[in-house]
Amino acid sequence: MKNLLAQPTLEFARTMHDSPRPEDDLSRILEEPGFGEVFTDHLVDLCWSERGGWHRPRVRPYGPLQLDPAAAVLHYAQEIFEGLKAYRHADGSIWSFRPEANAARFQRSARRMALPELPTEYFIASLRELIAVDGRWVPSAPETSLYLRPFMYAKEAFLGVRPAKKVEYCLIASPAGAYFKSGPAPVSIWLSTQYTRAGKGGTGAAKTGGNYAASLVAQQEAYEHGCAQVLFLDSVEGRWIEELGGMNVVLVKRDGTLVTPDSDSILEGITRDSVLQLAEDRGHRVERRPVSLDEWRDGVASGEVVEAFACGTAAVVTPIGQLKGPDFTVGSPDAEPGELTLSLRKELTDIQYGRAEDRHGWMLRLDQ
Ligand SMILES: Cc1ncc(COP(=O)(O)O)c(C=O)c1O
Repeated sequence: MKNLLAQPTLEFARTMHDSPRPEDDLSRILEEPGFGEVFTDHLVDLCWSERGGWHRPRVRPYGPLQLDPAAAVLHYAQEIFEGLKAYRHADGSIWSFRPEANAARFQRSARRMALPELPTEYFIASLRELIAVDGRWVPSAPETSLYLRPFMYAKEAFLGVRPAKKVEYCLIASPAGAYFKSGPAPVSIWLSTQYTRAGKGGTGAAKTGGNYAASLVAQQEAYEHGCAQVLFLDSVEGRWIEELGGMNVVLVKRDGTLVTPDSDSILEGITRDSVLQLAEDRGHRVERRPVSLDEWRDGVASGEVVEAFACGTAAVVTPIGQLKGPDFTVGSPDAEPGELTLSLRKELTDIQYGRAEDRHGWMLRLDQ
């Protein structure tokens, strides 16, 4: 395990919360953290202006942001975000998983959305700073973590359509429980044929709120059909699968090959990249290429596709039991989770929680 960037290059001015969450309250929260509803005592923020660049690194009590009603983000959605986790290891230390990859994706998202790029060392320094003040919020129960949510938005008050000259970067955090209380159960996926999430040349590869706003109506449709997630195609009349509303997709072939869509309109998942690396380390072939819906549907029917899973930071690796569309269903909600799916999930979480050797140098310690 490596310990890069031990010296943050920013000096954060700290204003501490005058009534932080009492210990007994916090213990109760950390026993059943849920997801994304309770936030730590502090946030970290940093301003950017066209003239002054990045400035005013601060820690302050968690609370509402001050936004002018004309702030560009509220009108033209110029914003980006990231999502990663802090894990507590058995010795009490606190680690994150490939945060440099999140920092690099944040920079790619920024370029696409005409926002300033946050240097990797500032991104990492902000994570360290939040852990320095709110480290006690990292839970220690199995499969729990502190979810870290960095985001950046156009703060300038103006109603013209152009990149904002004033921007804010902010980091908040929320304790996260085990996604699956009794182990990973297969989920059903709804194929959206009416809506797409992103188009060619659009913003699909950026982690920006608009992509998620565009997915909500399809996600609602998925719920109505008893499915947990929605699968998007490359276009409404399209034949290529892209990704789920908030996760990437991988198919496992009978010969052990893992296949995943290669597309410039999906989010390049860090979980997917890591899981595929672990599979390659075991000698599996990995194919990143266009994948058609027929390859999945016909493959399940013929026995050529033996497992399918979704992957992302929140649910790590989730077996897909069933794929449903308006006029077809393949698989079953009661399907047994795939063997390879489960063992890759275990290998990844063992690394993240410090139970297995980190041979790729993916873990970065945050509490030092
Ligand atoms: C649309 C989308 N695709 C894929 C992913 C998976 O990315 P990661 O593994 O980096 O969390 C996410 C989750 O962040 C996502 O929102």
